Amino acid sequence: MKLENKVAIVTGSAQGLGRATALTLAREGARIVVSDLNLEKAKRVVEEIKISGGEAIAVKVDVSKKEDVESMVKATISEFSQIDILVNCAGICSSSPILEIRAEEWDRIFAVNLKGTFLCSQAVFREMIKRESGKIVNISSASAKIGGVVVGAHYSASKAGVICFTKSLALAAAPYKINVNCVCPGPHKTEMTDLWGDEINARFKDMIPWKEYGQPQDVAEAVLFLVSEAARYITGEILDVNGGLIMD
Ligand SMILES: NC(=O)c1ccc[n+]([C@@H]2O[C@H](COP(=O)([O-])OP(=O)(O)OC[C@H]3O[C@@H](n4cnc5c(N)ncnc54)[C@H](O)[C@@H]3O)[C@@H](O)[C@H]2O)c1
Repeated sequence: MKLENKVAIVTGSAQGLGRATALTLAREGARIVVSDLNLEKAKRVVEEIKISGGEAIAVKVDVSKKEDVESMVKATISEFSQIDILVNCAGICSSSPILEIRAEEWDRIFAVNLKGTFLCSQAVFREMIKRESGKIVNISSASAKIGGVVVGAHYSASKAGVICFTKSLALAAAPYKINVNCVCPGPHKTEMTDLWGDEINARFKDMIPWKEYGQPQDVAEAVLFLVSEAARYITGEILDVNGGLIMD
């Protein structure tokens, strides 16, 4: 097992890419904090981890709220005494066209996707500095690089912010031997993309050289690599997981 004795917080892990990541890190021996706005679903993921012989707790958090994030970090330290890994996966999506984006909608997307990533990273980085070790992985999006094809400008702009934040944090964290990296998924089959409907998904799939959407496990394995010792010297990297949709 690659992550024995490690403790990982995975935000937005009640479903989708976060859930697959939480289960995969648990499979490799990490104790998991399944953190999500949806506590009931988070508890179900905790049960799945326990059934497979792992250790996990569920924490209700709105990543856009500083007090929630601070409670999540406190709960983790009190349960497991340390934090080795943070995966910032919580995110929300909207496909509103530019002329229809309300200012409140813009703010909420940025509050969850970008400010949430910042708040969780800042709180966890503070803990990781004390032990001079740790791994942070942020989940951005292919739309951050090419603009939103299906998703809105507010979503893709917030995810572009996640890429830049990753690089800034990687610079600040390197002296403490803390790795900070980012995964940029193209479309993957989750509840988020199911909402786009069959017609859009069929057309988008056709644009991907691999001719299929990724599975949540594809992102989970990329995250596992970045938080493992195999990626010891990799930091500030933006890793595409997109079936060849964009290559840069
Ligand atoms: N699925 C894709 O194709 C795709 C592609 C690129 C990037 N992403 C990104 O990957 C991440 C996961 O996507 P997914 O498809 O699994 O989405 P999803 O909607 O299936 O799951 C997102 C999870 O985040 C939680 N969440 C939402 N707002 C939250 C908040 N304020 N605080 C805490 N938790 C919150 C939800 O309850 C849910 O469990 C997101 O950041 C998304 O933007 C997804």
